[in-house]
Amino acid sequence: MTKIRAAITGVGGYLPDYVLTNYDLSQLVDTSDEWIMTRIGIKTRHIEKTKGKGTSDIAVPAIKELLEKTNTTPEEIDFLLCATVTPDHQFPATANIISDKMGIKNAFSYDLNAGCSGFLYALETANRFIESGQYKKVIVVGAEKMSSIVDYTDRSTCPIFGDGAGAVLLEPVEEELGIIDSMLQSDGAGRIHLHQKAGGSVMPASEESVKNRLHFIYQEGQPVFKAAVANMADTSVKMMEKHNIASDELDWLVPHQANMRIIEATARRMGIKREQVMINIQRYGNTTAATLPLCLWDYEKQLKKGDKLILSTFGAGFTWGSIYLKWAYDGA
Ligand code: UT7
Repeated sequence: MTKIRAAITGVGGYLPDYVLTNYDLSQLVDTSDEWIMTRIGIKTRHIEKTKGKGTSDIAVPAIKELLEKTNTTPEEIDFLLCATVTPDHQFPATANIISDKMGIKNAFSYDLNAGCSGFLYALETANRFIESGQYKKVIVVGAEKMSSIVDYTDRSTCPIFGDGAGAVLLEPVEEELGIIDSMLQSDGAGRIHLHQKAGGSVMPASEESVKNRLHFIYQEGQPVFKAAVANMADTSVKMMEKHNIASDELDWLVPHQANMRIIEATARRMGIKREQVMINIQRYGNTTAATLPLCLWDYEKQLKKGDKLILSTFGAGFTWGSIYLKWAYDGA
């Protein structure tokens, strides 16, 4: 029997209009363009400023574009998975809200939270649903309104994050294209270094939690940095070795965009050149679950059928992993 694989057959993306520059941040906290560029590598990030707009409102334009580009109607979608750490509400799932706003009526939908690895985890989940043969058109969207949990008085975190969404359509293919392999891992012991203290069941919102700024991102940069470099590089190199992919045979590394130094260290360990790496951190910052699909969206025109891609991430949890896929269509 021919093996069914899940292939990405289209990409959509969206970034809110408002652009927050390093100069703007230097007016809010004691920082500079020079520090941010040297230590992180970010120039600008997009922010959703409209009051009352949440992550679903950022996801919807990305999905609209995806459906237009792939000539797909909302009724044809049978599963929508949203990766996010900034859901519209604790419940219901943002995926349900997106489906409602999009007129996606014949699908089931839910959210998945795996920090910055959310999109990768969601891609693997969707892959298995497609492989089952039961689901034919699946949307995976990574969408974040990180600005809703960033403390703009904390100089160690506020330059890093941005808002945005990227969405892909996955469909079954019988050729040797699409998702070939995945390696996913998590280690909850890493949670102490990167989390949001209040707002969950351990510490529900209170006057005190708000006063103490506990609803924002808490990150100890250095341990997260070290674990990110080690694990993103390890998982990507392991994937190359397992599939006998030599450095010059890999067409693209699609790395999570958390820090230019992490991306460069991963590429170095894989022995690949900068031209083989998708990078847009300078313009969008770290959009958490949206970084990978936004890379695919930005580079889509350069992608060719059969291109070998390794997607690699690291994020809160800790969570990390890589996916090896063969691109299924000519982007141009
Ligand atoms: O996507 C999820 C995963 N997250 C990540 O991958 C993030 C990983 N971590 C990082 O990217 C980096 O650790 C940071 C960008 C967060 C920080 O960079 P760093 O090189 O690790 O800096 P540091 O925290 O060691 O701080 C060095 C110095 C400190 O000053 P002192 O103590 O040496 O006087 C900080 O107070 O830089 C200071 N600093 C700043 N200075 C100017 C911290 N933030 C800033 C800032 N502007 N924005």
